[in-house]
Amino acid sequence: MIAILTSGGDAPGMNAAIRAVVRSAQDAGHHVLGVPNGYAGLMEGNYLHLGQRSVDGIMYRGGTMLGSARSVEFKTKAGRQKALANLHAAGATALVVVGGNGSQTGAYALEQMGFPVVGIASTIDNDLLGTDVTLGVDTAINIAVEAIDRLQTTAGSHRRAFLVEVMGRDCGYLALQAAIAGGAEAVAIPEVETHPERIEATLRQAHERGRRGGIVVVAEGAKYNAEALAAWFKADGAQLGYELRTITLGHVQRGGTPTAADRVLGSRLGAEAVRVLLEGQSGVLVGIQSGSLCTTPLGDIAGKTKTPDLSLLALAEALAL
Ligand code: F6P
Repeated sequence: MIAILTSGGDAPGMNAAIRAVVRSAQDAGHHVLGVPNGYAGLMEGNYLHLGQRSVDGIMYRGGTMLGSARSVEFKTKAGRQKALANLHAAGATALVVVGGNGSQTGAYALEQMGFPVVGIASTIDNDLLGTDVTLGVDTAINIAVEAIDRLQTTAGSHRRAFLVEVMGRDCGYLALQAAIAGGAEAVAIPEVETHPERIEATLRQAHERGRRGGIVVVAEGAKYNAEALAAWFKADGAQLGYELRTITLGHVQRGGTPTAADRVLGSRLGAEAVRVLLEGQSGVLVGIQSGSLCTTPLGDIAGKTKTPDLSLLALAEALAL
């Protein structure tokens, strides 16, 4: 019997992964147990039997039908032992963990305690090693870009510049993608030092060239997030040409309907997780590299993060001329 949980920040496409795990496992003659509310639920022990029909109609919904949580207790040895005891008592013989960095570190800890675990790379931050792209990031980018498109029109109408803060924790991937796709004037990310005076000059030059509005995409993890950058401009008496507004997109980026790409990715990763488990693999993360499904030992990725392709920063700046 295969147990599945979703953990950490929810990500659009998690439901497609759950559906794929349930249907692929059942097709191979295995029952599936759904663990509500991530690792917190794993320690509580009230698991649900998931049949083919219990995953009907979940594909197009955002979030996760199982619920998610961040658990402090699970980080303790006692918490993990409680979780393992519950899994054994419920008759589970393997666990699929759908989640990001912290969740996969937890999965690795369980595997080190001797329980078969496979991870599915899922986070809107796309900061996990072992995969080119994580489940949920495509939807998050599209939501951010739609917001930027909308801000472009009102910015242009009022001759304003917007500082648009996007999520991503300590990773600038989402910001870079949103900046390029949204045609932003500038972007600030955690991985590269931001010079506020350069952003000021960029906006002023855009204004002088006759651009009616300006967009600066700011990663939440950057030293100068939207609040800090706005405060710097104010303290410096920055001459931007534009009136300044800030907006933080926040959890909107994690909500709503998953894109087709995330539904397909969730379906592929879910089916592959079951396939590798039944093949006898354990302690691996299922991801996608160069378009192909792949596995990476959890020990190689746990507690580490990936740096985005920084050439995208130069591209964003070059195209904003
Ligand atoms: O890891 C996903 C993420 O959305 C990050 O981008 C963000 O920093 C964090 O989770 C927010 O966490 P919470 O939902 O717990 O506020």
